[in-house]
Amino acid sequence: MSRVVVTGRVPDAAIEKLRVEHEVDAWQGPESISRDELLRRVAGADAILTLLTERVDGELLDTAGPQLKVVANVAVGYDNIDVAACRERGVVATNTPGVLTEATADIAFALILMATRRLGEGERIIRDRQPWKWGMFFLLGTGLQGKTLGIVGMGGIGQATARRAKAFGMDVVYQSRSEIDPDVAAELGARRVALDELLAVSDVVSLHCPYGPATHHLIGAEQLSAMKSSAYLVNTARGPIVDEAALATALRDGTIAGAGLDVFEREPEVHPELLELGNVALVPHLGSATIETRTAMATLAADNALAVLRGELPPTPIG
Ligand code: DGY
Repeated sequence: MSRVVVTGRVPDAAIEKLRVEHEVDAWQGPESISRDELLRRVAGADAILTLLTERVDGELLDTAGPQLKVVANVAVGYDNIDVAACRERGVVATNTPGVLTEATADIAFALILMATRRLGEGERIIRDRQPWKWGMFFLLGTGLQGKTLGIVGMGGIGQATARRAKAFGMDVVYQSRSEIDPDVAAELGARRVALDELLAVSDVVSLHCPYGPATHHLIGAEQLSAMKSSAYLVNTARGPIVDEAALATALRDGTIAGAGLDVFEREPEVHPELLELGNVALVPHLGSATIETRTAMATLAADNALAVLRGELPPTPIG
C-alpha cells in the first residue's frame, strides 16, 4: 500500500478509487493548502494529486523524497508543474486533457455572448436597482451571425469552441502550431492563418493555447492595436497569455470593443482598472466548473496515479 497525498478537496469518487488500493491523505481545509502545510504533507508520499493552485517544483519534489513516483495534476493546464524537474527525478507527471473540453468551450461561448450582448452590464443595472425600460437603443450589442471568430490554439477546446461558433453562423479562422485534422477543418470550415491575419480579420478572438514562456503576453498592446476597434477578446486559457494592463488600456481607450475573461494574470487578483470598466465580462476561472467535469477530472487524475503506482503507463501523461 502506497501513500497518496491529495493537495485540495476533490470529488469523493476520486478519493474512493484511490482508497481501494492506497492510504490517502487529502487536504480538507476550506482554503487552499498553505505552502508549509503542503511541504509537510508531501514528505514520504508515493503519489501526489495536485490542483492548479499548488506549485510543483524542485523543492516540493525533493521534500517528497525519492520514493515519489507520480504527480497527477487535476487540470489540463500544467503551468503549475515544473515538468523538467519531475523528469530529472524520474517522477511521472500527468494532466487531464479531454474531459473538460466541452465545459470550457461552453464558458468561452458564454463569455463571447456576455461580452457581445452586454449581459453583465444589463445584470448590473437591474441588481443596482437603476431605473430602466425597454428602448430602441438601450444596451445595443453586436450580433455574431456572419462574423468571424479567430481561435488562437486549435486543440480540443479550440475545436469545440469553433463547433459552437459554426452553430451560431460564424466563420472561423485559427492559429495553431500545427495543422488540424483536414476532415475536422473541413467540417468546421476553419482556415489556418498567421496570428497577424487572425487579429486583423476577427470580430471575436478567443484564446485556447497553453501557457508557457512562448505564450507569455502573447496578446499585448501591439496585438490589441492590430485588432478591429469593434472586436472582442475572450480568454479562458491562462491569464498571463494576456498583458492585463495593456488590455485595460485598450478597453478604456476603445482600441477594442470589449472582452470576456475567465482567467487572470495574477489570480485571484484582478487588475483594478478592469474592475472599473463596463465593457469587460469577468468570471472567476469557471471553465471546468461543472459537477460532471470536475468529477471526471479528479477520477482521471486518480486513474493516472493508480496506473503509475501499479507500474503501468498512465492514461494521460504530460509530454
Ligand atoms: C484546467 O484544467 O487547466 C482548467 O483551467 C481548470 O479549470
